[in-house]
This record gives sequence, C-alpha cells and structure tokens, in this order.
Amino acid sequence: MQDLDRLRAEALQAAANADSLDALENLRVSTLGKKGSITGLMKTLGQMDPEARKAAGQALNAVKDEVAALLDARKAELEEKALDARLASERVDVSLPVRPETTGRIHPISQVMDEMIAIFGQMGFEVAEGPDIEDDFHNFTALNFPPEHPARQMHDTFFLPEKEDGSRLLLRTHTSPVQVRSMLKSKPPIRIIAPGRTYRCDSDMTHTPMFHQIEGLVIDKATHMGHLKGCLIEFVRTFFEVDDVPVRFRPSFFPFTEPSAEVDIGCSRAGGELKIGAGADWLEILGCGMVHPNVLRHCGIDPDEYQGFAFGMGIERVAMLKYGIPDLRTFFDSDLRWLKHYGFLPIDVPSLTGGLTR
Ligand code: DAH
Repeated sequence: MQDLDRLRAEALQAAANADSLDALENLRVSTLGKKGSITGLMKTLGQMDPEARKAAGQALNAVKDEVAALLDARKAELEEKALDARLASERVDVSLPVRPETTGRIHPISQVMDEMIAIFGQMGFEVAEGPDIEDDFHNFTALNFPPEHPARQMHDTFFLPEKEDGSRLLLRTHTSPVQVRSMLKSKPPIRIIAPGRTYRCDSDMTHTPMFHQIEGLVIDKATHMGHLKGCLIEFVRTFFEVDDVPVRFRPSFFPFTEPSAEVDIGCSRAGGELKIGAGADWLEILGCGMVHPNVLRHCGIDPDEYQGFAFGMGIERVAMLKYGIPDLRTFFDSDLRWLKHYGFLPIDVPSLTGGLTR
C-alpha cells in the first residue's frame, strides 16, 4: 500500500496548507468524497483476498479517520480566524466624536401645523386637503356669502383671468372651502381639520399676500355650542401649554356660521413683554360658530337632521404669539439666520405624549 502512504502524506500536507474554507472543502471532496482518492482505494479492497483485505482495510480506515479529523480541526481553525477578522473589521470605535448637530431646521409654520395636528388628531380629527386654486362656489357661494359681499371684490381676492363662460377661478381666501369639499365628499359624522395656504391681496406690517390657516369642522346629529367651546378651550390650553389660560367667546359675524363667535385668550403686557395667561388684556386668536343651515343645504346635508361647528385660525398669528416672533414678514424672507433662531430640530416631532415643544 505505497499509494496509501503517499496519499496520506499528501492529504495531511494539503489540509495543513489549506488557507480558506473553500480550499478545505475542495480537499475533502477530492479525498473523502464519492470520487475522492481515498474512497477510490476503498473500492479496490473487493479484489483482494480476505487476509490482505483485512489488513489493507484497517490501514485505509485509519488513514481515512486521520484525514477526516485533520480536516475538521483545520476547518474549526479557519472558521475562528474568519470570525476574528470579521469582529476586527466591524469594530465600533466608541471614542469617535458625535456627529455635529444637523443644520436643517423645521420652519415655525410647519412646526405649529404639526403641533395642531397632534392635538386635534388626539381628539379624533382627520386631516383634509383642498386645492389652493378654487372656484367661486367652494370659496364663497356654498359658504353663504351673498352675491355682493365685499370679500368677492378685486381688492381682497386674487382672481385668475376670466374663462370663456365668464367665470373666474381664484386663489382661496381662506381654508373654509375645504369644509365644503369634505361635506360634499363624505357623509356625516365628519370631524376634519384642514391646514393650508391662503391668499389675499393685502400686504403691510401685519398682512402678507400668502399666509396659512387651519380650518376645523365637526358635523353630527347632536353637536352643539357646548362641544364647540369644550373643543376649542381644550385646544388653546394644550397648544399654549398654559393650563389656566382664560378663554373668552365673543359674539361675532361670519356668513357661514350662526351663531358666530371670536375667541380671545387672556394675556398680560406688563413691562412691555407679552405673556399668555391670566392678565389685564385679551388677544383675538380665532373665529368659529355653528355651521349655517344654508351651508349644510349647499353641501347636500339636511339641517333638520345634522348640525355642527366650524372654526378657522391664522397659523402665523398663533405662531408669533406662542414663540414670540415679532414680525410677520420675516416668516417669508428665507433668511437662514432667522430660521436657525426660530426653527425647530427635525428630530423633535411634536406629540402629546412626547411633548409639543422641546
Ligand atoms: N374663514 C374665516 C376667515 O378667513 C375664519 C373662520 C371663521 C372659519 C369662522 C370658520 C369659522 O370655519 O366658523 O377669516
């Protein structure tokens, strides 16, 4: 069995030299596999006479076991080496400095909208949307504006060029048309808020031609003024993060609500600094009321069966009050220094549980 001695020496040498798991596997196949060299020798045993077969068989088995054991040992060794290499390459250097703070900021308008969505979302309101370019029906007529109402005049509304049929599209002057669209689209009960852009032909210290509002609408069978008051008082206290801020509902007029009210919150201006909370002064922050029966009729809802309340609020205005931003026009100057000062970190997503503002 000279062959066997040679094969044994070669196999043991090759196993010791194998430098990868693949090479080792190839070696196993070429020695102990079905067509391997040692397996080949096993097959020759059949042709030997019994005495010789016994001796050769024992010798062959011993070599086979020896080679198999060495292959296993080498395999374990190579696997450990591979693991060590991987651990070394994936090592985390905990001494690296932290990443510098992100430079991007969330604009106060987006922040305030997110805060409002968090608060009203918790109360069960869904976010609704409508187009910035509206028609007369959704922006005015369905909302019970009489034909000669001043808001329809050129000086308030941006109209688009007249169409062939004489009608003119316009840039929505408030978010209230989203009420109309929501009522036309879905059956009551309805509970939506609609934050978005609005446009009026107006520009001075306290007005910009584009600004933002949020609209709210609740329609159900037994909705009444008490629900309106409870909802808005809860909102105001959560939003301004002042538990006992005084809230006042003052009678007012809007074509689309009856009765209508404006909401004021208490504040003090002692020492020239505006502070939200109990004090000698009041600040108007929003308009609201019970949806006018004519509006419900325009939207295909029977006012004898359903009623509801609505409200509308200027986002810039409450953002200025909450975050002490003195000048409205700076919101739209795209001044990065302003944004760095008044903006919010992107990771601080407002939520009622995690905190509205951090
Ligand atoms: N649309 C009104 C505005 O632009 C705001 C408003 C007031 C909306 C009362 C309402 C409401 O839904 O009920 O000034």
